[in-house]
Amino acid sequence: MTTLAWWQKGVIYQVYPRSFQDENGDGVGDLAGIAARLEYLATLGIDAIWLSPIYPSPMADFGYDISDYCAIDPVFGTLSDFDRLVERAHVLGLRVLVDFVPDHSSDQHPWFLDSRASRANAKRDWYLWRDPAPDGGPPNNWLSRMGGSAWEWDPSSGQCYYHSFLPQQPDLNWRNPEVCEAMDAVLRFWLDRGVDGFRVDVLWLLIKDALFRDNPTNPQFSPDEPGHHAQLQTHTEDQPEVHNIVRSMRRTLDSYGERVLIGEIYLPVPQLVRYYGSAGDGVNMPFNFQLITARWTASNIAQLITTYERALPVHAWPNWVLGNHDNPRVASRIGAAQARIAAMLLLTLRGTPTLYYGDEIGMADGKIQPELVRDPAELRQPGIGQGRDPERTPMQWDASGKAGFTRGKPWLPIGNAAAANVASQDGESWSILALYRRLLSLRRSEPALVAGSIGNVTAQGHVLTFERCLGSVRLFVALNMEDRPGAITSPAGRVVLSTREGRDGHRIAGELILDSDEGIVVACD
Ligand code: GLC
Repeated sequence: MTTLAWWQKGVIYQVYPRSFQDENGDGVGDLAGIAARLEYLATLGIDAIWLSPIYPSPMADFGYDISDYCAIDPVFGTLSDFDRLVERAHVLGLRVLVDFVPDHSSDQHPWFLDSRASRANAKRDWYLWRDPAPDGGPPNNWLSRMGGSAWEWDPSSGQCYYHSFLPQQPDLNWRNPEVCEAMDAVLRFWLDRGVDGFRVDVLWLLIKDALFRDNPTNPQFSPDEPGHHAQLQTHTEDQPEVHNIVRSMRRTLDSYGERVLIGEIYLPVPQLVRYYGSAGDGVNMPFNFQLITARWTASNIAQLITTYERALPVHAWPNWVLGNHDNPRVASRIGAAQARIAAMLLLTLRGTPTLYYGDEIGMADGKIQPELVRDPAELRQPGIGQGRDPERTPMQWDASGKAGFTRGKPWLPIGNAAAANVASQDGESWSILALYRRLLSLRRSEPALVAGSIGNVTAQGHVLTFERCLGSVRLFVALNMEDRPGAITSPAGRVVLSTREGRDGHRIAGELILDSDEGIVVACD
């Protein structure tokens, strides 16, 4: 245990700042709001918060379009608010991670304004500019992840620029050493202010093919998928040169002591684990999103745990993510009862867990009337389920009309706060919030859950079972992944935590029938 870094022992909690707590009443969450809720987070038992972008931004993609990397958007507060937040978090024993968005800036960033000013501008090459095709069309067939061509025609300079996402998010040219240096200075700016690490946005997209070759067609494409799935992203993602960049980011972080570098990477496991670096010199953790997309069956989850564990290089520390601001919430994906099982799974697996705000109270996706849709992904490609507003609705602190989030008009509608809110779950011993607190506290007090090995991962029918072992301690975890009872064989021991009332402390041995949607952790004799 003592040899592990804080981020290996800890649990990360993602805060989507627009939606966590609004202090100034403008309907959008802010840094002062997050600061006011730090005690709640410390009591919950998490160890670090990761803040989605808080930098000045025209908000075309709600902060993922940055116009100044080294400041705070007034909607969230000021740099002093940020410093106060970090200081207070550290006093409470919480680390603070921020989002780093190096792939693209806003089209309003001074770098891009310069770059677009003329072909001769010193910053022209900071972005990806190409001549149009001879017929006047885009330079190649690359597609944006937000629909349509990834090339935007700029009439004044007579060239097109590349944008992986919105036209308001031009991609930076990471083959230009000046860009690398400028971005390194950004990392240092925040490290000097005391941040404990970064979540790096779309890390696997940073470098594009030097020859700008067309992407091949995806033979498996179906028209209900996002448009860019019509192509294999052969030349626009996961290019070999990306690993040099990752190494250099890591060197910068390491020069500041024990900091953490996490990569947002949506790739199959064999490619994903390469981001740990061939000598453990890549990101500390490439986010592992498999639980978000997995088919929720015991056999499937057992198989993916085993495959992931086997694929990890020797130096790699695993991690698991249950939800984020880009995907439907876990309670909506698998239902309220299974969301409790997912909590137990996430917090008993080997590796650093990342929670998404509100999942600890079982918040479901909000319902967004068509006229209230804000997410550009939905506005540009309506009706194919790309909309991300539902998982970004305000945190539900209480059952009141505005859920305790704001005194103003919330920027997105409030979800079903009566069904899930902190205040009412606070005092209920069997609420999902209470379950999260118990699981987080068990993880903190039981080294086997952090430093222990994982083994015997199997599906006993529709019950997922595995063991976590450290020294003489052996914990057996059994998770019934369906809403019907499940018979299992269990080692002899005592139930230290159950998702349902009346099982804690019971001795068990041999045959056992778990209730529908029940999960238990057993300390084996
Ligand atoms: C990442 C973010 C997402 C954003 C995109 C473009 O995937 O998580 O919210 O839209 O990058 O920055």
